[in-house]
Amino acid sequence: MHEVPEWQGGSLSREDIINLTGANSQTNILEENVRLMHRAIDSARNGIIITDHQQPDDPIIYVNQAFLNLTGYSKDEIIGRNCRFLQGQDREQEARFQLKHAIQAGESLHVQIKNYRKDGTFFWNDLLISPITDEHGTVTHFFGNQLDITERKEAEDQLQHEKHQLEQRVHERTIQLQETNEYLTSIVETIREALVILDGTMHVLAANEAFYRTFQVQPAETEGKLLYDLGNRQWNIPALRELLERILPEHNPFEDFEVTHNFPSIGTRTMLLNARQIKHQENYQDYILLAIEDISARKTAETDSMRNQALTQAVLNSLSAHVAVLDKEGVIVEVNEAWKRFALEQSSSSEQNTFAGQNYLRVLEQSRGEQSEEAPQALRGIQQVMCGERPFFSLEYPCFTPQDNLWFLLQVTPLKGDGGGVVVAHVDITERKRVELRKDDFISMAAHELKTPLTSMKLFVQGLSKRFEKEGQRDVTVPLQRVDAQIEKLTRLVKELLDVSRIYAGKLLIEQQPFVIAELEAEVVNTFRMITPDRTITFQGDTSAVVVGDRDRVSQVLTNLLTNAVKYSPDGSPIMVAVKEQADHVTISVQDFGIGIEPRYHARLFDRFYQVTEPNVQTYPGLGVGLYICQQIITQLGGKIWVESVQGEGSTFSFSLPTSHKDK
Ligand SMILES: Cc1cc2nc3c(=O)[nH]c(=O)nc-3n(C[C@H](O)[C@H](O)[C@H](O)COP(=O)(O)O)c2cc1C
Repeated sequence: MHEVPEWQGGSLSREDIINLTGANSQTNILEENVRLMHRAIDSARNGIIITDHQQPDDPIIYVNQAFLNLTGYSKDEIIGRNCRFLQGQDREQEARFQLKHAIQAGESLHVQIKNYRKDGTFFWNDLLISPITDEHGTVTHFFGNQLDITERKEAEDQLQHEKHQLEQRVHERTIQLQETNEYLTSIVETIREALVILDGTMHVLAANEAFYRTFQVQPAETEGKLLYDLGNRQWNIPALRELLERILPEHNPFEDFEVTHNFPSIGTRTMLLNARQIKHQENYQDYILLAIEDISARKTAETDSMRNQALTQAVLNSLSAHVAVLDKEGVIVEVNEAWKRFALEQSSSSEQNTFAGQNYLRVLEQSRGEQSEEAPQALRGIQQVMCGERPFFSLEYPCFTPQDNLWFLLQVTPLKGDGGGVVVAHVDITERKRVELRKDDFISMAAHELKTPLTSMKLFVQGLSKRFEKEGQRDVTVPLQRVDAQIEKLTRLVKELLDVSRIYAGKLLIEQQPFVIAELEAEVVNTFRMITPDRTITFQGDTSAVVVGDRDRVSQVLTNLLTNAVKYSPDGSPIMVAVKEQADHVTISVQDFGIGIEPRYHARLFDRFYQVTEPNVQTYPGLGVGLYICQQIITQLGGKIWVESVQGEGSTFSFSLPTSHKDK
């Protein structure tokens, strides 16, 4: 073998080869050609191997330098081996099986397979194998061409990975948007207000169920239409157009725009409109959400309420009484003109302020004991009506100012359905009071004036009676006794009148002496047993309870009740008197089995000058002040008086008095 000169590149002619190699024969030229080819293959950048297919397991018979560089193996470690050693332990690759089949079939194949260098690092091998056949077409060898495509593959993989990730993100976002969309749709659908979504050109993109229900229209006649063309163009209002068209460019929402219109299918309605911009992230367009609330019912209610309020105010103002409405806290929420006038007069003369917004209960609390002695009573009464303890409260009270002596009647009534509010009215009763006072003065004066002549008359009659009795002139003594009895009756009436006038003047003299109540009861009962022998008057009272008070006045009360019992029950019917001692008081009751009293009269029986005046109810002449005097006496002694009665079965009048200590 001779030296082959270095090939300088370019295409080779036959002469070139002869010159280069020094060959001078045909054989030499061929040999040189082969050598040249070897060198060319060796200097190729791709790895190249040739396997011998006629030997078992396709051993490598040729490798080029690029292959050695690529794999890190030496020629000795490779020649004679099958190329599978490049796969290391990674033997389950699809490409391996494809290679096996191609080799068996003597076919060419292009695959990408993961191979491992001698140092264990991997690379992606872009492998091309092609069969080499002899002149009979028999595959004698295989040609293999390897290229390291790791970088490209990794770039591809990275690209693939990123693409996959992008697809994943798009997928997730789509789901998210779908969910958001469904979520929003469900919210929009559950909102009872009618909602419309408009695009920038005021075309309806969508509307909710409430919209279709409210306006009784179909999606087909709404969606995609210009808002201003809907219905009978009722939304085509210049002011509304201006507001709507400013929303997107100026990011300027609007609130509570009121529209009253005649809407097709539903008639005249008042709608409240609210609109704002909504951002659509998908296509970077902004839309308008228009909310429409039908406030017709509310409007009507408001108008009705205003009308009612005006009516109430007019009624209130027409009253001469001072009327105020208090809420459940006692704050004045409404007053009439009369109240305002009075409050103004009052505020200039005193510190009291009773205008709307002020708490009336606080005002009463502050005036406690100042100007008005009745303020605490009034306060208590109002509070009781407020909490439902009593259905109504009234109180007469004086209001003395430097200019005038006035009298008022305070009336407190609950405000129905207001949970604690009340109406407070002060009625000016000065005139009535003056008349009453004059009447009281008159009664007092008349009673006093009558008392003296009656006493003289009684003395004269008694004197005459004694004289004629001595002379035995019975025809004169009998009429004189009748006159005496009438004078006695008259004296009793005058006494009652005097008591009444004393009560008015607050001068019903009451002694404060302790006495055993049962002893007094027994005395009175015994007297009555003597006067009315035909009556069985039973007495129960095994108590030594002591009452501190006016013994004569209590005796007067019991006498009055017994007199009534006798008067209003049939001759011969029994009367039961009982004294019962309880924790800190005694109860005395007088029971008859007479005509009884209807329940509707019970409450008024103790009023002064009150008498039952039913035509079919048996009554007896009198002033109707007996029970009134009884009530006044018992009240002044710190007790109570009441009646229980069933018509036709009889009555029980009872009174209770506080007990002092026991006299054992
Ligand atoms: C010419 C030629 C070159 C080859 N080059 C490679 C190679 O670079 N890398 C590789 O993994 N396999 C290569 N192979 C394939 C393996 O040698 C073997 O045929 C394959 O792994 C299938 O057979 P097996 O299943 O018996 O291993 C080549 C095969 C031929 C014929």
